[in-house]
Amino acid sequence: MNTSPVVELAGAGFAYAEGPPVLRGVDFAVAAGRSLALLGRNGSGKTTLMRLLSGGLRCAEGRLLLDGEPVTYDRKGLTRLRTTVQLVVQDPDDQLFAASVGQDVSFGPMNLGLPEQEVRARVAEALEALDIAALEDRPTHLLSYGQRKRAAIAGAVAMRPRVLVLDEPTAGLDPHGQERLLAVLGRLREGGTTVVMATHDVDLALRWADDAAVLSPSGLRTGPVAGLLADGELLDAARLRRPWAMAAAEVLRAHGLLAADAPGPRTAEELGRWAVPA
Ligand SMILES: Nc1ncnc2c1ncn2[C@@H]1O[C@H](COP(=O)(O)OP(=O)(O)O)[C@@H](O)[C@H]1O
Ligand SMILES: [Mg+2]
Repeated sequence: MNTSPVVELAGAGFAYAEGPPVLRGVDFAVAAGRSLALLGRNGSGKTTLMRLLSGGLRCAEGRLLLDGEPVTYDRKGLTRLRTTVQLVVQDPDDQLFAASVGQDVSFGPMNLGLPEQEVRARVAEALEALDIAALEDRPTHLLSYGQRKRAAIAGAVAMRPRVLVLDEPTAGLDPHGQERLLAVLGRLREGGTTVVMATHDVDLALRWADDAAVLSPSGLRTGPVAGLLADGELLDAARLRRPWAMAAAEVLRAHGLLAADAPGPRTAEELGRWAVPA
């Protein structure tokens, strides 16, 4: 069995032209089947890291590994990367460009030179996965923001990546839109896609992710989400808010209602079930 991460940045460093270093010595590994939340405040380097991971930017130091092998930035290497790792950028208007949803979603698979029938099957599957099959012929400029977000994700899903990388996918969505998106991501995950999400929403990360990676000025810390987001010093250094659930657990512990080493509730629903045992 291949236990190396699907994709991995090792000792990665990057700076934009004439700017200070954005990332230095970053180790970031995406393990197959684990949902990973990349957390950091605005400007901490989340987008930069995701672009390094998906090949849009190239490391100035360190390297990018795919299945344990260094990525070569020639045509063959980049195709191998693109068919494994797909990035969905934060603003769907930076991603969508074709006249209709169906045309946009078909662009990636067509560019791979796949037969027309295969392209059609992939487009149908991706639209279905994102719950937007009815929008196939709709002009992209007539879609709502949430629909445009889902169309952009469908374009990535149509590439059948093993790793789907989403930059702030819930930003700008209303609560209902967020729930719909999380349901979609849950189904993709069940279908075997590994999902990486950048966010500054610690409550969302705690609820959704298996693992977290937190960007702070002292570097990147990675680990199981509950442990990492219970580390107040780390959250302060990263200038992230404490998750709601962590504050709730502190109150419960202070009142002797939760053992010091017991995990606290992750959501309000869990707290409700737990506080009122069946
Ligand atoms: N195209 C760019 N040119 C120059 N500096 C940039 C560019 N994009 C981002 N930066 C800078 O890099 C840093 C990290 O930005 P970014 O990766 O977008 O962080 P985040 O996604 O966490 O908000 C910020 O200081 C930002 O101003
Ligand atoms: Mg960003």
